Amino acid sequence: MQPKHRWSIVTRMDSHDANRIGAAFLLTALAMAGSVWAGHLAIPVAIPLRPAFTLPQTPDGSASLSVADALAHADPKAGQALAARSCTTCHSFTKGAPPTVGPNLFGVAGTPVADIPGYSFSPALSAHRSELWTDEALSAWLESPARFAPGTRMAFPGLSDIRDRAAIIAYLHTLSDGGHQP
Ligand code: HEC
Repeated sequence: MQPKHRWSIVTRMDSHDANRIGAAFLLTALAMAGSVWAGHLAIPVAIPLRPAFTLPQTPDGSASLSVADALAHADPKAGQALAARSCTTCHSFTKGAPPTVGPNLFGVAGTPVADIPGYSFSPALSAHRSELWTDEALSAWLESPARFAPGTRMAFPGLSDIRDRAAIIAYLHTLSDGGHQP
């Protein structure tokens, strides 16, 4: 009979078999503990100090700054210094000065795009002539001239920090007949 037969297997088990089964259980338990331990080594439970990825913005949050916010804190004198370093190779900022590589930028803020008399603009920038050089447009242009007007002749990579652009725009605001020269 079946049940009797199974019983006989168990009852025939000697102490040797019992030891082997015990050892097998022990080894299984050890192997499981070992793999849990190895898993913890490989993938620590602790929260990492640095996030696995960061949002594309500068650590101080300047990427979330609007042009108006950035302008409210912009220093035209810092903009003038930055323009002297980044723009005067191609632009003059003095009233009445002739164009050089690029047009004279005195009074450019608020005027129509690509509309300075005596300067021959590229078709790429002339395509924007119906727009005005608002603060937002100047910021977009100075961030990446090539993105604003693909094919532009302004060979300038752009200023990635909105605070640098705002400083230059604040400086451009001072360059008008009604403005104060810094
Ligand atoms: C390598 C030379 C070069 C540099 C550097 C340069 N520009 Fe220009 N810029 C040009 C040229 C060329 C144009 C005309 C672009 C065209 O016609 O496509 C231009 C056009 C402009 C215009 C448009 C003017 C208008 O009336 O539409 C503005 C504004 C301007 N530049 C601002 C700046 C500022 C601010 C800087 C410095 C941060 C700067 N540029 C740096 C060459 C330069």
